[in-house]
Amino acid sequence: NWTTGNILDEQVERIREQIGDAKVICGLSGGVDSAVAAALVQRAVGEQLTCVFVNHGLLRQGEAEQVERDFVAATGARLYVANEQDRFLNALSGVSDPETKRKIIGREFIRAFEEAERAIMAEAASEGEEIKFLVQGTLYPDVVESGGGEGAANIKSHHNVGGLPEDLRFELVEPLRALFKDEVRAVGAQLGLPAEIVGRQPFPGPGLGIRIVGEITGDRLDLLRKADAIARAELTAAGLDNDVWQMPVVLLADVRSVGVMGDGRTYGHPIVLRPVSSEDAMTADWSRLPYDLLARISNRITNEVEGVNRVVLDVTSKPPGTIEWE
Ligand code: XMP
Repeated sequence: NWTTGNILDEQVERIREQIGDAKVICGLSGGVDSAVAAALVQRAVGEQLTCVFVNHGLLRQGEAEQVERDFVAATGARLYVANEQDRFLNALSGVSDPETKRKIIGREFIRAFEEAERAIMAEAASEGEEIKFLVQGTLYPDVVESGGGEGAANIKSHHNVGGLPEDLRFELVEPLRALFKDEVRAVGAQLGLPAEIVGRQPFPGPGLGIRIVGEITGDRLDLLRKADAIARAELTAAGLDNDVWQMPVVLLADVRSVGVMGDGRTYGHPIVLRPVSSEDAMTADWSRLPYDLLARISNRITNEVEGVNRVVLDVTSKPPGTIEWE
């Protein structure tokens, strides 16, 4: 593709000019934008880049591996991993309120990222080097939006966990600043990033933390990860990935209902499927998924995920419902 190739060469040249032979760091969230921004900078300055992945334990099945294994294999980037699953679980213990969850996750994320930064800076200093730049995956719509009004941001505090508040210690490198999402995906594909990363649907920064209605525990996260993996696999197998904008799978941890299995009574939790179609997430409609697909997802989740005895479908548009349940 001529246009994408052009964008790529031009950006690589610009990044080289900006960074020179200085050292640079980039946070990876598991999402498309940070992965493509990092891959571009890696292409431009190679070993001068260190990527940082704070694993908060709230990603879906296979997503940490996509960063730690597949991203590294595709780009050859140096990666610093901070395994902070316990830290986030401890900080979130006893918390059910959605906005409090968001604030705690955002706060711990920044702290964990800064600790990782300090470790990398110390290592660089021991070699007489200094880190001067921080890469951010800011897109053109983000640039426009932050200049305008707040809009939907008033409803939920949408701090993006992948993006950090401007860190004045570093000069920012923003290689995606002129691009729209589809161009970012095209550049990512051009750079050889795996389809699972490049084609990833929108996923909230606080991750599964805001898809457990109620308190977050390790067991509940495991349960939700299993249910979500089944729902996603079946949607993909049905060839309908491009028909839905995103499909949150939500665990109602505070709700129990009676069910029956064999000769016995069960008292389990419901899983909610929330497939939506949308242009920009500002408004949305519930996706009319085929009944046989819904039946397969429901059968598999209730059979394979212990503790879940009911699967329900959310048929609410946005507004009045939001896409996420929290
Ligand atoms: P709602 O639920 O407000 O979601 O209809 C609109 C879009 O934003 C995503 N979302 C978030 N993204 N941090 C994020 O980075 C958040 O706290 C957050 N909450 C919702 C949601 O997945 C949807 O794409």
